[in-house]
Amino acid sequence: MMLEVILFGCFVTCVYADGVADVVLSCTLVEEGVGLGGMGGGALFTRTPATLVLRDVAVGPDESLEMLTPFVPPSVPDPELILFETKVSSPEIPNAGVLLHADCNEQEVMCEISRYSPREEQEGSDPAFFMVSLSVEGLEVSSSLILQTLTVEKYQSQLTQNKLGLPLSQSGTLLTKVIFLVFSNIKSVSAPLRGHALLNCGFKQQEIPLSQEVGVEWRLQHRGKGRKVLEMKTELNDTEENTVVHGERKGSSMNAAQVVSEGNVSMTLSRLKVVDEGTYICTVSVGHFHAQQVIQLHVMQPPHVSLSVEKLVLDKKSSQTLSCHCSKYYPLDAEIEWLFLSPTDTEPELFKDQGSLSSHRQHGDGTYSLSSHLTVPPTLSAGTKITCRVSHRALEAPLHISLIVESHEPDSYWWILGFLVITVLFFYQVMK
Ligand SMILES: *[C@@H]1O[C@H](CO)[C@@H](O)[C@H](O)[C@H]1NC(C)=O
Repeated sequence: MMLEVILFGCFVTCVYADGVADVVLSCTLVEEGVGLGGMGGGALFTRTPATLVLRDVAVGPDESLEMLTPFVPPSVPDPELILFETKVSSPEIPNAGVLLHADCNEQEVMCEISRYSPREEQEGSDPAFFMVSLSVEGLEVSSSLILQTLTVEKYQSQLTQNKLGLPLSQSGTLLTKVIFLVFSNIKSVSAPLRGHALLNCGFKQQEIPLSQEVGVEWRLQHRGKGRKVLEMKTELNDTEENTVVHGERKGSSMNAAQVVSEGNVSMTLSRLKVVDEGTYICTVSVGHFHAQQVIQLHVMQPPHVSLSVEKLVLDKKSSQTLSCHCSKYYPLDAEIEWLFLSPTDTEPELFKDQGSLSSHRQHGDGTYSLSSHLTVPPTLSAGTKITCRVSHRALEAPLHISLIVESHEPDSYWWILGFLVITVLFFYQVMK
């Protein structure tokens, strides 16, 4: 039964014992194609279904453990199946609870496995390494794990996995352990122009560390161009004396103490500019291993909105133009709409003729400005409220700016003028 579930590409979560659970993920094994050359020189990838069983994932005490049974491997080991089995008690997988509940919340877990080669071949033994990329659809969390195969005693099993050529355990699984992982809890960050942003990234390694030396590199990738932002080399057991930080962007920083004590390599960027926007890659190197996370930074600046005039007096003979200016906002997309509310109505309506838009103007700091020009129909009645409504990503709710159309009152105007003339004449007479 369990096997069926796996083969059909779903995954189930099984909890047993106190506070630990098995998470069964359906994954894809991605391999570079071999012997399939000739297709324009590009690398070909083959994709094969695989299963990853995370054993002993820590579960909070308040989790409901009902309805769940431990993962049961197939009764007859099958050398065709690719079944990775991993104990994850150390290091703990961050956000494992999310994986546990993704199924119930109908969120899809993306899981890709590929072969990993350390920078230098390990001597002596011959473990194989795999990189697992995990993320949950619609959630901001993801991690990259490096798995190392465990030695299988020859007498235990004679079976070898057909595709990978690796020895299988008695239950037909590829036994592995997590030796190193890099993760991010927030994959996408929005921050205001001239403000600051924290780009989230962290790493964990097994109890017996691969290395005391850690290298962190943050790069920015934008429109095909890449550049280094910040780099740090440090020793984990140590004071900050051996820490070397090199920042290529002013106002970028990492907390060296947090790197050492928590494996927190998050980067802070201050005084954000439009050019800081893009895809950031956090790479952590430990020993011969390195893994990455990708974090998006969006810069946001809400528009400043104003009308061209403070007062609009109706002219029954000709139409007038009212402009709504949105200035210095980012990113580019902004929507300007015109509404009117007659004194007798309760709900504003959209103008049929929404006026004309200026072209976008870009400022030196990368922000944009845009204006909309409304032709105010002479048929509007006095007391009508005209509203310019602006929608933009940096605004929580659309912004409204309005004025009330005033009637042209020639009678009172002439009356005042006439009164003034008479007064002046009167005084003139008196002075004479
Ligand atoms: C790193 O530390 C900051 C606080 O300084 C925190 O907000 C963030 O969640 C931490 N990230 C990780 C990956 O631990």
